[in-house]
Amino acid sequence: MRNKHKKKFPILERIRIEEMVAEGKCLARYENMVIFVPGVAPGDIVDLRITRKKKSFMEAEAVNFHELSDLRIEPFCEHFGICGGCKWQHIDYDTQLHYKQKQVKDNLERIGKVALPEFDPILGSAKTRYYRNKLEYTFSNTSWLTKEQIQSGEEFDRDALGFHIPGRFDKILDIKHCYLQPDPSNAIRLEVRAYAKANGLPFYDLIRLEGYLRNLIIRTANTGELMVIVQVYYEDQEAMQKLLDHLATTFPEITSLHYVVNPKGNETFHDLDVICYKGLPYIHEEMEGLKFRVGPKSFYQTNADQAYELYRLTRELANLNGDELVYDLYTGAGTIANFVARQCREVIGIEYVPSAIEDARINSQINGITNTTFYAGDMKDILSDELIERHGRPDVVITDPPRAGMHQDVVEKLLQVHPNRIVYVSCNPATQARDLELLSAKYDVTRVQPVDMFPQTHHVENIVLLTAK
Ligand SMILES: C[S@@+](CC[C@H](N)C(=O)[O-])C[C@H]1O[C@@H](n2cnc3c(N)ncnc32)[C@H](O)[C@@H]1O
Repeated sequence: MRNKHKKKFPILERIRIEEMVAEGKCLARYENMVIFVPGVAPGDIVDLRITRKKKSFMEAEAVNFHELSDLRIEPFCEHFGICGGCKWQHIDYDTQLHYKQKQVKDNLERIGKVALPEFDPILGSAKTRYYRNKLEYTFSNTSWLTKEQIQSGEEFDRDALGFHIPGRFDKILDIKHCYLQPDPSNAIRLEVRAYAKANGLPFYDLIRLEGYLRNLIIRTANTGELMVIVQVYYEDQEAMQKLLDHLATTFPEITSLHYVVNPKGNETFHDLDVICYKGLPYIHEEMEGLKFRVGPKSFYQTNADQAYELYRLTRELANLNGDELVYDLYTGAGTIANFVARQCREVIGIEYVPSAIEDARINSQINGITNTTFYAGDMKDILSDELIERHGRPDVVITDPPRAGMHQDVVEKLLQVHPNRIVYVSCNPATQARDLELLSAKYDVTRVQPVDMFPQTHHVENIVLLTAK
């Protein structure tokens, strides 16, 4: 079987890696065929083993490196290459930004096929490490072992508290230090792990679905407030109380300490009770003097500093003078809606998740904002003729859809309603480009501003200003 496989997909020797493309992979070519390769850098010369062959492209892994690219730098994390978190650490930040900008340009040109202005240079993140305000660690009793560890024949501690190996739901990498979230994130994780080992608390078995400790969520806010959520598989009041008391004493800076008993097959807890054990049931993030309440189930942009830059640019492109009626589509917890509310007449925010809409309303209340109205429901149903009759035709629409982009009905509604300006914020330039082509029937793209929210990863955010023709 193995030989047959090898025969079908021979090793391609001394292939030059050309550029970085979507999903963090690099592109190479062989006899007019495009090959996508992970874990390499433009300029590397490598031998490739083909892992997948389709009509128009192939996928491959580098099995031997002949020359290494000048763009490479030494990754700073000991987990690089195994952990799926920061796949671009081997490339310096300026080069990462260059390829992110290129990714946006390629998508908008190839898929969007619309006339484009000169792009504004991508706005990099001031922090390229410790920029996240939320991390979610998983417990497992079968930690991932590297090839070297297995070959050594040594016995290793198989309990792990860390991140999933890419593509493996059942394998967790035990994290020693993570560069994504500031202190005391690492200290809390290591303390919970050490306490659990010392007190014999069973780490979860992701295949047999047994064990006690399942998951640990740490949220650090720019106000200094700190939330910790411990998720377990079954009720054990005494064990939980001791663990949480230990955490509260060791880290008095925790302002919001919770636990969840989750007997389900998966780790999501949006449908479960989250019990506040100590402190307040929420923390706050702050932006331009506005406070945003973040509960255990609330969404908040994970790179808060850069989210501020994203919203600032969004507001700048919306060019508000105080009189406008603004619709904020896919408003989440109403962050953009509340952020622009003081610069316009009224904001209507629409979002699918009812609890996010509750947060959005609370966020208006605690900031004394009275000109926002929020609706929960599917965009294509809520953004109706009836809603527009009730509130009026928007002067400006801000839209920030999920990766899939906007539903075609929503795009058609926007064409029908015809606001003067649409500011389209997107985390996926491919679907944004698709929607821009549809909107080009009545709109010109007048500004394109990529923003990097996630250094060391291939993800890129992009803001486009559409102006009515
Ligand atoms: C990229 S987030 C935008 C969040 C928000 N603008 C912010 O900056 O915090 C996309 C949001 O769209 C919501 N969403 C996804 N599909 C939806 C739909 N069909 N109708 C309404 N909202 C939807 C998601 O729940 C999510 O909150």
